[in-house]
Amino acid sequence: MGDNQIFSDELLHRLRSSRSLTVLTGAGVSAESGVPTFRGKDGLWRKFNPQELATMDVFMRDPQLVWEWYEYRRRLIQDVQPNPAHYALSDLEDKFDEFLLVTQNIDGLHQRAGSRKIAELHGNIWRDRCLRCDRVYDHKEVDLGEIPPKCACGGSLRPDVVWFGEALPQEILSQAFQAAQSCDFLLTVGTSALVQPAASLPLLALRNGAFVVEINPEPTPISERVNESIRGKAGEVLPRLVKRQYFTTDDHGPAQKNREQ
Ligand code: OAD
Repeated sequence: MGDNQIFSDELLHRLRSSRSLTVLTGAGVSAESGVPTFRGKDGLWRKFNPQELATMDVFMRDPQLVWEWYEYRRRLIQDVQPNPAHYALSDLEDKFDEFLLVTQNIDGLHQRAGSRKIAELHGNIWRDRCLRCDRVYDHKEVDLGEIPPKCACGGSLRPDVVWFGEALPQEILSQAFQAAQSCDFLLTVGTSALVQPAASLPLLALRNGAFVVEINPEPTPISERVNESIRGKAGEVLPRLVKRQYFTTDDHGPAQKNREQ
């Protein structure tokens, strides 16, 4: 399909005239890197019950089980690479006066693709946090000889991710709401739009007059409400959008920004 059929003139015009862009991403953005989604055919929540693995109650009862589950997930993603969708979003960052990438993903792939203006709503699996003093560690620094690993203060460490029943980090959440409320254009990519409060961000942007575009191979509960819903894979649609809008030749690529190799 040609780019003219994928991207309407209105979409391109609105994007071109926007001062501020907010992007919301979910697990679908990392799917083409090989990271499993939650609710897809081979999704994690099809095989595992989140209530038995990702809650504070379970952690208090059985920290070994919870640490093993997160070590399993770290192993799933430790060797994967950012894909063209991550790179395209990183290319978009400096094209706007105001930009925020709000992600529900905890895999750190946006950062590895060079994105810097990020609000991680659900935390990051490559960090650990002390239950007693809140000190945050890079996961690499943590000694896994003892489970749960211990902080220098003696408290137990947990993965620095949001579990079911927990509040999202307040400051990051306000930043995300502010960005959704005030942006001219919002892109929602690779999320089932089922989990709150992230799912309400595109609707908040719509109510405040932003142009909202969804990119997802499947319809979601908000597909009918957004301005345009593009059925396609993030790793195919996003690079075409960035190229169509900002580059007339093929000469751009991942080397443009300071990215992890
Ligand atoms: P889901 O697994 O619920 O949804 C993934 C979405 O990505 C689906 O709508 C797919 O159709 C879409 N998708 C799949 N492949 C894609 C591709 N190549 N390009 C674009 N889209 C694609 O994941 P999330 O919406 O991220 O929370 O789930 C939200 C939250 O639910 C997660 O952050 C996690 C989970 O419980 C916590 O763990 C706190």
